[in-house]
Amino acid sequence: MKPQNIGVLTSGGDSPGMNAAIRSVVRSCAYHDVRCTGIYEGFQGMIDGNMKEFTARDVKNILGRGGTILRSARCEAFRTKEGRDLAFQNLQNNHVDGLVVIGGDGSFTGADIFSHEFNIPVTGIPGTIDNDLWGTEYTLGYDTATNTVVDCVDKLRDTATSHNRLFFVEVMGRDTGFIALRTGVATGALDVVLPEEDASFEDLVDALQRGASHKKTSNIVIIAEGNGIGSAHEIADKVKKIFPEIETRVTVLGHLQRGGAPSCRDRILAAELGVAAVEALLEGKTRVMAGSMGNRPNLVPFSEAIGKQKHLDPNLLRVSRILSI
Ligand code: F6P
Repeated sequence: MKPQNIGVLTSGGDSPGMNAAIRSVVRSCAYHDVRCTGIYEGFQGMIDGNMKEFTARDVKNILGRGGTILRSARCEAFRTKEGRDLAFQNLQNNHVDGLVVIGGDGSFTGADIFSHEFNIPVTGIPGTIDNDLWGTEYTLGYDTATNTVVDCVDKLRDTATSHNRLFFVEVMGRDTGFIALRTGVATGALDVVLPEEDASFEDLVDALQRGASHKKTSNIVIIAEGNGIGSAHEIADKVKKIFPEIETRVTVLGHLQRGGAPSCRDRILAAELGVAAVEALLEGKTRVMAGSMGNRPNLVPFSEAIGKQKHLDPNLLRVSRILSI
């Protein structure tokens, strides 16, 4: 049955563009004449009954703001049946009969279980800077986060060149290297250390030697946090032992990558996916993520979005190797 009151929540790590997606969901509901309820702090808000009705005007002036006005959480209690029972009870008390979950793979896993258990329709919008969901070329926040990294690395390059230094820059991405590969190419990094490749420490040493023989005066190495060799600090220490003459510095960009105003690309993505997620619910679809392929909304079952592994673009990998010569 077509939902009459759609709940929207943001869950897991926040990402730029989540507010734009909330706005899109709320306004799509208003356009289609169904009620919309904003749920605070992800699944925790369902368990606590922390929610209120949102109208189109409640989401004014949030389109360009980073973070999420609904706040977010990684909710342990939602992993338990008792927690989910309570969550469903609160949705019923508030007459919420459909859900849009904005988040990453952990959030969709929880949403999938919940939807099966209580037969409530749920759709998802991929919101994570990691870009690690199958069925969408871009996740919300990935473009903004990579722009932030590029901006920071450009600044580091200025000081690296001034001092002939080698910088190791650690970026996020959990166990994937989407942020690292894209920003490595965009900043002309000497090397990118990725979780997806079985690169050894020796490969990195070779790259550094190659850089030295080509008389590079500044070097940037992008380290994906989930790589198999070690953290940027550990790698820098090992490099220092082999090349004591090279001056090294380490920058861990950390949560800087999650903040800031969403890029134009992320705002458009949020707008399109918010509409797609609401309309999918109104068409009777459930347990699907509204992703984007070829710049068009693409619905994929949660089971595929979280169950299938998204691979790095092989062409970008090749380009990265060619251009770092
Ligand atoms: O999934 C988004 C992400 O920012 C990852 O890139 C990172 O590994 C993780 O979340 C950090 O989580 P937290 O904010 O809980 O430290």
